[in-house]
Amino acid sequence: MPSEITAEAPSNIALIKYWGAEDLGAVVPCNPSLSMTLDRCRSVCSASFFEGDRRPDEILLERDGALAPAPESFSRRIAAHLVRLRTAWNRQGTLRIATRNTFPAEAGIASSASGFTALTLAVSRALGIELAPAELSNWSRRSGSGSASRSAFGGYVQWPAPGTADAASAAPVADAEHWPLCDLVAIVSSSSKEVSSLEGHQRAATSPYFRRRLELVPGRLDTVREAIAGRDFARLADAVDEEAIDLHLIMMSSRPPIFYWRPATVAVLAEVRRLRREGLAVCATMDAGPNVHVLCEPQCAADAEAALRRVEGVEEVLADRTGTGPVWRQGAEL
Ligand code: DP6
Repeated sequence: MPSEITAEAPSNIALIKYWGAEDLGAVVPCNPSLSMTLDRCRSVCSASFFEGDRRPDEILLERDGALAPAPESFSRRIAAHLVRLRTAWNRQGTLRIATRNTFPAEAGIASSASGFTALTLAVSRALGIELAPAELSNWSRRSGSGSASRSAFGGYVQWPAPGTADAASAAPVADAEHWPLCDLVAIVSSSSKEVSSLEGHQRAATSPYFRRRLELVPGRLDTVREAIAGRDFARLADAVDEEAIDLHLIMMSSRPPIFYWRPATVAVLAEVRRLRREGLAVCATMDAGPNVHVLCEPQCAADAEAALRRVEGVEEVLADRTGTGPVWRQGAEL
């Protein structure tokens, strides 16, 4: 009988962004980052471990409601991570992995953070290894996805952990109940990104503004942390808006440049500014893609969502909110 586990891990949206690595292979960032864990956007992963078996691993991905072998580009990173984990814990055997995202693949929301954390948790438990949250964060990060370090916790999460220079793991700075916020994801394009984050981290330092960004981030991180501690949305909004523009300024001024924005991205940003002028407490951030995460307090969500749906070029609005950390249970559900 194989040992079978299903794990679920949340995606996260960075308020202060990881962009640029001191050591990309070892996943050591140039600057600290801080994110909000999401609730609805999660990855579910079932792992079955056949101890002593010598068959090749099986890596499946759910698409359009059916499980199928994952595409080569996707399974290569997963296969390498499985070898890493099995070697570290000295276990011989075959793994069957099946993964599903609770958010549409075409939403352009990074699934590697939630995906690698769910995978790491399911595999560790199937192999009989009990990881503390900080260890889960560290092993998830070692997949190559730095943002996965933050998906090991709920609420608001900083990587590297506050007060340490060690990039091994992230740590929570506030839990989800402390300050529930909404994240309305305005989908303006569902095509996959042309330049990967991995490539982006490599190009970041070629921007003439990158050094300046590194000087500005610590102060902005303090502001975001203070705003979260005091539940001060206006303070958070200014820092989050500024950080998102800075990130894309670095991308656009890298050599060669990276342009993720579409015309509708700019239209959504203009609408967010208009809503703020009208007194609605909203702010906007984007990761390595054209879709805009519009953050707001719950009482503003209905008005903000209706306004975003009216913007030309917005295909869909996914409503999410602050969420809790990963969970696991016995059995293979996929
Ligand atoms: C812009 O190297 O963690 O989202 O592995 O694709 O998830 P993936 O990317 P990763 O870089 C994340 C870049 C970012 C900012 C952030 O999440 O901090």
